[in-house]
Amino acid sequence: MERTVKIAPSLLAADFGRLREEVQAVEEAGANYLHIDVMDGHFVPNITMGPVVIEWLRPHTRLVFDVHLMISEPERYIADFARAGSDILLVHPETCRHLHRVIYQIKEAGVKAGVALNPATPLSFIEPVMPDLDSLLIMTVNPGFGGQAFIETMVPKIEAASEAFARLGQEADLGVDGGISARNAARVAGKGADVLVVGSALFKHTEGPGAAIRELRAVL
Ligand code: DX5
Ligand code: ZN
Repeated sequence: MERTVKIAPSLLAADFGRLREEVQAVEEAGANYLHIDVMDGHFVPNITMGPVVIEWLRPHTRLVFDVHLMISEPERYIADFARAGSDILLVHPETCRHLHRVIYQIKEAGVKAGVALNPATPLSFIEPVMPDLDSLLIMTVNPGFGGQAFIETMVPKIEAASEAFARLGQEADLGVDGGISARNAARVAGKGADVLVVGSALFKHTEGPGAAIRELRAVL
């Protein structure tokens, strides 16, 4: 079956002094989602941004805001991130004592609900909630920083997730996040990934994000 692969530039790799221009540039270049990495310095060893940045960017783009919460106790902030203009909220099951409850808290806030899995977390851990998901993000690096190397051993997990959704007859996003570039994009898409989160390879491309997106589309 023919699927369009969505490209989700990861804002983490953008120039934060020119966020609005950076976002508009990737939108014009044909990106589908804007991947927004929220880090708290607790669940992951880095601190980035909160709902206020999303709120300020929201009027300047029509891109889907795919918000990746790498924070402890995400349930405390769902309402704020929903109100700020998130379209999809991804939580880490490693941070949720009651994952099923958090998924429904997100949906009740009017936002699509997703889960992001650390490299060491098996797919089986979230299998009972797969039917409830709008999105599943397979981390292909350990979360916390951009520019890390793609972890090759995650490829079977991507394939298993794709097969699990197919068995359920479910139309959910299956994303990959970390170390994605034109070198491995076709391979992960071939295993069933249909959202490619791309940070450094896109914003730090020598010929700009437009060239990076064209290269990605060419290999897909
Ligand atoms: C890592 C983040 C990623 C990261 C991807 O913790 O979740 O979204 O920004 O960046 P690259 O593409 O540079 O690995
Ligand atoms: Zn991310």
